[in-house]
Amino acid sequence: MDKKALKPLFDYAGGYNGHESVTVNRHLKVENGLAGQDILSVAQFDRPMLAYVFERAREMREMVGRVGGTDLLTGRVLACLFYEPSTRTSASFIAAMERLGGGVIPITQGVQFSSVSKGETLPDTVRTLEQYSDVIVLRHPEIGSAQVAADYASVPVINAGDGPGEHPTQALLDLFTIQEELGQIEGLKIAMVGDLRYGRTVHSLTKLLLQYDVSLRFVSPEILRLPLTIMNEVIDAGVNARETHDVADVIENADVLYVTRVQKERFSDLAQYEEVKDHYEITPEIMARAKQKMVVMHPLPRVGEIHYAVDSDPRAAYFRQVRNGMYIRMALLAAVLGKA
Ligand code: NCD
Repeated sequence: MDKKALKPLFDYAGGYNGHESVTVNRHLKVENGLAGQDILSVAQFDRPMLAYVFERAREMREMVGRVGGTDLLTGRVLACLFYEPSTRTSASFIAAMERLGGGVIPITQGVQFSSVSKGETLPDTVRTLEQYSDVIVLRHPEIGSAQVAADYASVPVINAGDGPGEHPTQALLDLFTIQEELGQIEGLKIAMVGDLRYGRTVHSLTKLLLQYDVSLRFVSPEILRLPLTIMNEVIDAGVNARETHDVADVIENADVLYVTRVQKERFSDLAQYEEVKDHYEITPEIMARAKQKMVVMHPLPRVGEIHYAVDSDPRAAYFRQVRNGMYIRMALLAAVLGKA
């Protein structure tokens, strides 16, 4: 599949344009504009595209519940190339590919055992893996690395986190979780808590939410505030947004409390990390002040930001969020590989 030939990305207007088309529901018909495309940033996703991915994810959930798997991607291979640790993102992509009948090259347990440790560059590694595979999922510590890989690869590249940059597939599963848990996104009050500076999931989810009429609250220690470039996007979008240091300021009104880990690996000064690492802990006492209908989310892993006693609260959605990740990634893999 020639990904260059399939561009431009989001041509819904002109009817059939060579991509597979699907009827998502009786009212909404969109092209599978993801066929053959890279997924590098949430900027690629507009509302019809989001609706398409979410509807496909629901179909995947229904199918997995009924029969566990399908042969949609039989004969297709995913290369999973992770230069940073991962549990959920790598495992869910692998599970997604296997449940769709495809195969996986898992370079996830430490690239130190691959030729990367011999000094091979990212472009060479990518150009090698594309000889064996039909799609590459990449996690890498540098901002922009997914774009570099995509520039060299002729197969689609999916960004599974480029340093503190973006994590688009996580943002899609986060948004999907909000929609499924609360039945809507429009009108919600969403509070992001923790490391807003380095947390790439916060960066991607915030950008995605700017397409909706939501109120955003950013709760962080001073040194972990949302980067100015993203805050400027928030302001330009005209979204109702405020910053605070204190969870108490947001807990009573929040529909979504999106809690994040302080990203230790991004600090050059570990003394600074020590200062802020235990800043927030969501406890049952704090939850007692929250609305009855709301959700607590976390991309995970958690390292103390949410007390284990909160897990049994029905509003704790983080493990349901994990499961949604598999359905979203099944939907994305099918779409990128042109299987509508
Ligand atoms: C996140 C990540 O890697 O950015 N994890 C994930 O993909 N679910 C969040 C984190 O590491 O804190």
